[in-house]
Amino acid sequence: MKKEINIAIFGSGNGSNAQRISEYFANKEGIKIATFVVNKKDAYMIERAKNLGIPYRVFDRNDFYNTNNVADYLKEMDIDIIVLAGFLWLVPENLLQAFPHRFINIHPALLPLYGGKGMYGMNVHQAVIDNKELESGITIHFVDEKYDEGTTIFQAKCNITPDDTAETLAQKIHLLEYEHFPVIIEQVIYTQQHNNKEK
Ligand code: GAR
Repeated sequence: MKKEINIAIFGSGNGSNAQRISEYFANKEGIKIATFVVNKKDAYMIERAKNLGIPYRVFDRNDFYNTNNVADYLKEMDIDIIVLAGFLWLVPENLLQAFPHRFINIHPALLPLYGGKGMYGMNVHQAVIDNKELESGITIHFVDEKYDEGTTIFQAKCNITPDDTAETLAQKIHLLEYEHFPVIIEQVIYTQQHNNKEK
């Protein structure tokens, strides 16, 4: 039986969730953050990888959409689970097929609300505030070939008060993400291990 579960975290920018997840799993036996995969060469997530001592690799649009370079790298790194944490491109089909049911994404709203192309980061929070919503939240879901449409694994909510702005809402959402995302990733891994044993 395979001893250690290897996670790859994909991101495009700041990488605060990637850091939080890495710190959560740092002392957990049997689960390792094996690499950060970044699609922007100036992403702050790269600094975080260096500070955490986690390997990282930058892939550009051509790598993702016209080659098998990313899938080959994930196989070479013996990756079991891929976590999208602020990764803003659609995952290409060849990757989803190479790792079926292995991609997990976090979205900073209560899907199916405020999802789809162009709905990421502050765009989401601004739209929620503009619509005077009374609550928002996070959605953790499996990834399929469309933006933000895979099966939901978990949602958590927060209230929006009249004085909230897109910025303060983003802070509330980030706190929810830091609290729940690592725990849910761990639960998905344990569930998949359990199901594999039963097969
Ligand atoms: C997170 O809030 C995440 O939910 C969101 O980007 C932020 C990344 O922050 N993802 C999306 O909008 C995906 N559609 P981080 O880089 O500091 O973790």
